[in-house]
Amino acid sequence: MRISLRFILPLGIALAAIAYAVVPLVDRLTLQWFVRDLDTRSESIASAVQEPLAELVTRAGAKQKVQRYFDRLVQDQRIFALGYCDSRGVLVHSTYAFPKAVRCSGGGAPPARNRVVELAHGPIHVSAVPLSFEGEALGELVIVHDMSFVQRRSEDTKKYIFYLFAAIAAVVALITVVIAEVSWRGWVAGLKRVISGEALLGSRGGLKVTAELRPIARDLQALVRDLEAERRTRDEGQTSWGPEALRRILREDLKGDEVLIVSNREPYLHMRRKDNVIEIQRPASGLVTALEPVMRACSGTWIAHGAGSADRDTVDKHDHVMVPPERPAYRIRRVWLSKEEEQGYYFGFANEGLWPLCHIAHARPVFRAEDWAHYQAVNRRFADVVVDEARTEDPIVLVQDYHFALLPRLVHARLPNATVIAFWHIPWPNPEAFGILPWREEVLDGLLGSSILGFHTQFHCNNFFDTVDRFLEARVDRETFTISYGGDPTEVRRYPISIEWPPAALAAQPPVEACRRNVRERFGLPAEARIGIGVDRLDYTKGILERFMAIERLLELEPHWIGRFVFVQAAAPSRSSIDEYQNLEAKVRVLAQRINHRFGRPGYEPIALRLEHHDAARVYELYRAADFCCVSSLHDGMNLVAKEFVAARDDEQGVLILSQFTGAARELAEALIINPYDLEQSAAAMHLALGMPVEEQRVRMRSMRNLVQEFNVYRWAGRMLMDASRMRHRRRVVSRARSARLLSARQ
Ligand code: G6P
Repeated sequence: MRISLRFILPLGIALAAIAYAVVPLVDRLTLQWFVRDLDTRSESIASAVQEPLAELVTRAGAKQKVQRYFDRLVQDQRIFALGYCDSRGVLVHSTYAFPKAVRCSGGGAPPARNRVVELAHGPIHVSAVPLSFEGEALGELVIVHDMSFVQRRSEDTKKYIFYLFAAIAAVVALITVVIAEVSWRGWVAGLKRVISGEALLGSRGGLKVTAELRPIARDLQALVRDLEAERRTRDEGQTSWGPEALRRILREDLKGDEVLIVSNREPYLHMRRKDNVIEIQRPASGLVTALEPVMRACSGTWIAHGAGSADRDTVDKHDHVMVPPERPAYRIRRVWLSKEEEQGYYFGFANEGLWPLCHIAHARPVFRAEDWAHYQAVNRRFADVVVDEARTEDPIVLVQDYHFALLPRLVHARLPNATVIAFWHIPWPNPEAFGILPWREEVLDGLLGSSILGFHTQFHCNNFFDTVDRFLEARVDRETFTISYGGDPTEVRRYPISIEWPPAALAAQPPVEACRRNVRERFGLPAEARIGIGVDRLDYTKGILERFMAIERLLELEPHWIGRFVFVQAAAPSRSSIDEYQNLEAKVRVLAQRINHRFGRPGYEPIALRLEHHDAARVYELYRAADFCCVSSLHDGMNLVAKEFVAARDDEQGVLILSQFTGAARELAEALIINPYDLEQSAAAMHLALGMPVEEQRVRMRSMRNLVQEFNVYRWAGRMLMDASRMRHRRRVVSRARSARLLSARQ
């Protein structure tokens, strides 16, 4: 219908123009040519007959001879009629058909030599040629040509011209329509691809943007990026980030899609005590601290290693257990590992290899081939469990940390429509440092199976880009933060992790004064002593030794604090079967003892060391009791203790001393930032913290609290889920466009 209109309309216009302008013009021109021909013909006849005719008409009694001569001429020359008018204008000789309507010009008036006269049967051409004989003017010869043949020919000519032009117009219209249609379709298809975002994905899959659409594609890409960025910032900024906001994203942006989390550490361990009673333990893990509230909001399934001594006794037949125990909101799927697997994959490759590799803490990584084999096997096992747990073919799979570098690729291979978001909770080293890993290409390839790969800081993202650039044949686009390596592209983004706001553990806390009293009692501290605290896993990356040495320096430099200041160090034992950790524990104990011995006195020890697991309530009580909290990590992806301390201080008091080598230092600028290797500086920061005026504490603390409140863990998870939803939406549009094209190609 559209095509016929596009064809008929211009053709109709062309035909009308031919009929009303072209044909009459051609008709007029041909008539003029014919008349001119007849003029010439008449003149040549007249000049040929002039002499014999003059002789005849001047001869007396030659009337009959003239008549015969005229009849012969009419016949020979195919003339319609001939006539002779004498000098007075009287027709004296004429052939039979000479029309009555043709009159002699007569009596001195100069004759109109050539003219066309319309008669009833059609037009005639009349030429009046004056004759003379021996210098004397005679009458005139009138030659009449029939012009009806001209009319007939003109009709034919009109017909042929019309048909010829009509045919040309039809062909031209057809060609125009075809060309227009082809280029319009190409243009529209190209534009559709650009709009659908397919063209934005590049030319993979053989799809290209035509040259003329390239500028539009570029503009559209920029516009889409701007709109997305603007929408993200606007939405992010306007949202009040809490569990409900996350649920809304899941409900509205992700249309209730399934969420699976995979981590090594489970959020709840069931432990059998010596008296056979089963108790629940929350592990000391920043990862768990951050993700647990997210899972409470999102529901879904958390797949993790079942490491608790009573874990097997508390699951159902599918290895599931609903948590939190007091108000079940999501389920854990426990994965069982043998002692050897745990040794090779967890203690070995993950914690003796990757952990020191990624942290600049001067502990040497150890890489063993058998650990690597276990690491690969356990990653494969978890991939099986992800596939087993997935109820849909396109779940969102949140893969956590360095224990599962291979998992994104494995999941992607089995569930190509899943959106895999991998988050690397620890730092990413520079290419030189990473390059010592014997299986570096495999680890990078595994991670690049994810759709989104997150780090805490831009610095770590950049290190990752540099590493991929150095070791893989991949396309690294630092403008759009994407890496294309074989399959679908991976977006590499900065998502600084955080904690829930307000923290659940805060709700049950008594006022700050009561917390201080309780802590003093619990640790047997002198009544007036100022309190510094450290809360960590017992890990060599946390800078606990450096912290103790700084305390020693403080007491050397400012001895008035002796007896008036106590540092409480809560350290949860961690990865204790690894030599490096055992050595650390021994060193920490010895150093604390030495310092206590040096500065202690009966009833007073400057360092109260508690190497044991502390539950969240106890930890928050410590935070609230402290004059300062010291986070002196030698290298740390983020460090959530710093954020928890800030969140715990609703009295806006207390000072945070924070290592410049933590991700948190990039956000919490109002902390006293230290280089933990610089003992003088750290000691000075402790002294400053202990003497900091209340008002200054308030200003610093308030600002940090605002930041943690605003950038809480719901926002962290929300940003990733929103990015995932945008990505899924774009893929759906592209795949819809692709199937529509396939369909139309088949038709
Ligand atoms: C770090 C890691 C986490 C880990 C936590 C505790 O925060 O990034 O993945 O869970 O340490 O270590 P653990 O080995 O006890 O799980």
